[in-house]
Amino acid sequence: DTVFLNGDYVAKANAKISVLDRGFLFADGVYEVIPVYRGKPFRVKEHLNRLFDSLRQINLSSPYSESQWLEIITRVIVKNLNVHGDNQSIYLQVTRGIDSDRQHTVSGPLPATVLVMASKLTTGESTLKGEKATLLEDIRWLHCDIKSIALLANTLLVNQAKANGFDEAILHRQQWLTEGASSNVFLVNNGQVLTPPKSQYILGGITRDLIIELCQASGLEVCQRRVHIKELLDADEVWICSSTREISPIIAIDDKIIGSGRIGATTRRMAAALQAFKS
Ligand code: PDD
Repeated sequence: DTVFLNGDYVAKANAKISVLDRGFLFADGVYEVIPVYRGKPFRVKEHLNRLFDSLRQINLSSPYSESQWLEIITRVIVKNLNVHGDNQSIYLQVTRGIDSDRQHTVSGPLPATVLVMASKLTTGESTLKGEKATLLEDIRWLHCDIKSIALLANTLLVNQAKANGFDEAILHRQQWLTEGASSNVFLVNNGQVLTPPKSQYILGGITRDLIIELCQASGLEVCQRRVHIKELLDADEVWICSSTREISPIIAIDDKIIGSGRIGATTRRMAAALQAFKS
């Protein structure tokens, strides 16, 4: 298991960072998760563009150019082929670096701390499984479009969901759907596909963008607008999506059965379109 840490390729067990790293002390950093299929990073340019956008929003300059990132990612993939196989999930994190002391105010420009590591990607060709979600209040901050490593609200919410027997927490702000704790949400109602628009309240998912393109290519318009939770619960179909979960059908939200309680036709069609696009 080899990771990239600040210019070196080292064994995961030996990869260490300082206690003064601002990522460790303040969650002062951003990240990406990039799926790898058959050894190739998927939609990697889109992921890197989002990384550059997250970095810009927290006033950090990228420690590497696009081509340098591509080289690092490729090397991490190759070094881990014998450990994780050729379907991997690449985790990439950039923090503001190691400061002179634990102080809120940054002491000046610091060399960023950069970590790139791989793990096994378990999604893929496997058959679709209907999942259950719980609807919870979105208690996160107001810049959810930044892929921040500060994920305390997200982890508290999903752990609460898991403890109650659900697979994902679907979040709302004052009854308006935002997204999942680590996914975006789509619904189908009377043949129309709906998803909340990109805003400061959601992360603009790379999978979300791709699904919108795939819907349009197959003649399905996607309406990006505010969605009330009543509409969500009354939907014919709901799915969540992310780089690691692809399209996951939601067949129940709390004690409400969605549609027929089975995986819907549009969900199946888009999941098949996504599999076809990958290969
Ligand atoms: N999370 N919304 C949130 C809050 C997320 O954390 C994620 C992904 C998404 C979907 O984005 P994408 O399609 O680009 O993966 C939406 C990653 C997988 C994670 O934190 O592990």
